[in-house]
Amino acid sequence: MSLTLKRDDLIRSQNLIGGEWTSALSEVVFPVQNPADLATIAQVPDSAAADARAAVDAAHAAFVAWRAMPAKSRGQILKRWHALILAHQDDLGTLVSLEQGKPLAEGRGEILYAASYVEWFAEEASRIDGDVIASPVAGRRMMAVREPVGVVAVITPWNFPAAMIARKIAPALAAGCTVLAKPAEDTPLTSLALIRLAEEAGVPAGVINVVCASREQTPEVVDVWLAESRVRKVSFTGSTPVGKHLARASADTLKKLSLELGGNAPFIVFNDADLDAAVDGLMAAKFRNGGQTCVCPNRVYVQAGVFEAFAERLTRRVEALKVAPATDPEAEIGPMINARAVEKILAHIEDAVAKGARVLVGGQRLEELGPNYVAPTILADAGEDAVLCCEETFGPVAPLFRFESEDEVIEKANDTPFGLAGYFYSENVSRIWRVADALETGIVGINEGAVASEAAPFGGVKESGYGREGSRYGLEDYMHIKYLCQGNLRQTSGG
Ligand code: SIN
Repeated sequence: MSLTLKRDDLIRSQNLIGGEWTSALSEVVFPVQNPADLATIAQVPDSAAADARAAVDAAHAAFVAWRAMPAKSRGQILKRWHALILAHQDDLGTLVSLEQGKPLAEGRGEILYAASYVEWFAEEASRIDGDVIASPVAGRRMMAVREPVGVVAVITPWNFPAAMIARKIAPALAAGCTVLAKPAEDTPLTSLALIRLAEEAGVPAGVINVVCASREQTPEVVDVWLAESRVRKVSFTGSTPVGKHLARASADTLKKLSLELGGNAPFIVFNDADLDAAVDGLMAAKFRNGGQTCVCPNRVYVQAGVFEAFAERLTRRVEALKVAPATDPEAEIGPMINARAVEKILAHIEDAVAKGARVLVGGQRLEELGPNYVAPTILADAGEDAVLCCEETFGPVAPLFRFESEDEVIEKANDTPFGLAGYFYSENVSRIWRVADALETGIVGINEGAVASEAAPFGGVKESGYGREGSRYGLEDYMHIKYLCQGNLRQTSGG
């Protein structure tokens, strides 16, 4: 099977600024590669500060008319965008697989996931309202109304090139904000195609602007946006060090920030768990997208009474996973995104083994398939000093740690600066509420490994960031509250 599109014009290789598809002013480009074989799929603009500034001018100019449009009309445009995304699911899914490497079925699934956010915020747009406040003073009417924050910069990661841009742009548009988007350098093509469809849906010129840049040029583009007082919010999904940089650099202009950063999710299996459900949950949570997901379990804690049984069932399931290029209809795990990612994953395995871990399955690179493939791996009894205990591996590696008591595992699970997601399996209702309360994470999967949903608030605590995406809370992040106070109202008609 080859990866070709029904609509070739969905492969866009230019920036979109003020409604014009355009090259970088410098005319410099960089290649987008297929991680399966490193073939170049397209060349896109390697933008610089001047392109970033032009995008701010366009987004700023478009803001007045866009915010003035009734929210319901903005929602109708989003509904048309949603319909177009569904109509082009195959092409968009193919693009995801081509540039990101995930198997085709997963690529198409990601498009449905992305579309669900667009539909959700299309509907939420009509429900943006405010409050009438009971005045403590006679002769006054007091109100709180919601307003769009203004121009928003959205900086998206490579692991979900469709879903992450949809999860940020859809609420921004629903709220009445205009957008500057910087897609990840590894995967800009899906974002560009989605935004082409947004244009077709009727999003006016300047409301969404996209600026592509290589890894080297990205700081130059983003620094312009961070320094610009006309940019009122930054929404970023990516690593904690970059998130901290964005927070520091946007402090001068006090921008609103949504930071969805690294995780180091614990996955806990208690003796009283339904083991088959726990294995299913771990397979779904850990091996989705080849383990390249912020909410992936990074540390799997299994209580001593079920350790061997769980490890055995899990090993059988992982042995059966098919690793192959996206073109293989049976592929369940594709290549990792790039050589840097592969090196980090292998270094984590090597370090854990050097510190005493046993390899139950996998543990090696799959060079025969191509440059970026890693075998899905289960490690047992890694030491607590292993690097993968404190650093996100972002790959298909599940280290199993043995524990004895609930108190011990809660302490270990929380012993990390991160707090995005946590999961646990237990059939004991009292334990369920105790552990759910005790986990220091923004998301808790209780007997469930697939937690993400357009209707739910996604985001972390501690150094996993702040702000929420998806759900009604995700819309709040793109608005501020204005208080209106009308005084000197006469209490009598005087006539
Ligand atoms: C992420 O990895 O940041 C997003 C994952 C998801 O939406 O489930």
